[in-house]
Amino acid sequence: MASLTAVYGAPPLKLATVPQGSVQLSPLVPGGQSMDTLDGGAFDAIVVLAPPGAIERRYVLAHALRLLKPGGELTALATKNAGGLRLRAELEAFGCEVTDTPKGGHRICRCERPAAKPEGLDEVLAEGGPQILPDLGLWSQPGVFSWNRIDPGSAALVAHLPAGHSPLSGRGADFGCGIGYLSRTVLTSAKVTDLLLVDIDRRAVDAARRNIDDPRARFEHADVRHLALENLDFVVMNPPFHDGGDEDRSLGQAFIRKASQSLRKGKSCWLVANRHLPYEAILAECFTRVVPQETPGGYKVFEAIK
Ligand SMILES: C[S@@+](CC[C@H](N)C(=O)[O-])C[C@H]1O[C@@H](n2cnc3c(N)ncnc32)[C@H](O)[C@@H]1O
Repeated sequence: MASLTAVYGAPPLKLATVPQGSVQLSPLVPGGQSMDTLDGGAFDAIVVLAPPGAIERRYVLAHALRLLKPGGELTALATKNAGGLRLRAELEAFGCEVTDTPKGGHRICRCERPAAKPEGLDEVLAEGGPQILPDLGLWSQPGVFSWNRIDPGSAALVAHLPAGHSPLSGRGADFGCGIGYLSRTVLTSAKVTDLLLVDIDRRAVDAARRNIDDPRARFEHADVRHLALENLDFVVMNPPFHDGGDEDRSLGQAFIRKASQSLRKGKSCWLVANRHLPYEAILAECFTRVVPQETPGGYKVFEAIK
């Protein structure tokens, strides 16, 4: 029988071999499979490009061990300063015998899944899994953007969304919806008829589904840049400006372009950005009128009208 293999993320080809046909397990890749729902003990080998957050990383390693057959091979790698130096100890804490190789700025750890259930697995899976945040009363998960606190930029945008006599209305979208914080405010307007929440992080979309119980909301695990939307009445967004840990301004600029393409003429995109991000030129290029809002602190909010 052919061996069953999986990969988490996109490990550099020079550092790890990922067999063709491997199942993609990263929640950041639309079309991949969710680690949480796959049966345990099915895989012969898994390669993990481990994420930088400690709770998230241990959760991913625990799931990878759970998914492997006893004796199945785990390769886990990370750059030295983004968790690589901790990988070995994290795997040893599960009872694994680990080899640890430095290469190309990464640490590459290899081990077999122990015959017995790895130690502490359930605790680590609970710590890193979907959970309700008592202070906020919202579902979230470690690894999701600003997973356990409201992002001040998002709070600034919420404070500026139209309300009162002319609230948001009609069909809209929340680009990069996260756990649905902005959308919850948007849906307080009875004039909103339909809202599409989109995020590239499956964990965020799943949390948003749990946080928003409203028949007007639809959810999509997708890359905003690949959406084909038209005739929307509004878009709201706090666009991302990191891709794979590095600042990437073109990502926010692509969100702005996509918002313009998705809107009807005369309709608005509401967005917030960190003050240092250079979005003014692309906004002016894509929209007829751009109205900066008064905002204290390190954020700027715009209404951009097509
Ligand atoms: C700054 S956060 C805003 C989250 C949420 N709207 C809020 O206000 O709390 C940006 C979001 O965009 C998502 N994201 C990043 N790249 C994306 C892409 N290419 N397509 C869709 N969503 C993306 C991230 O996962 C993250 O949830």
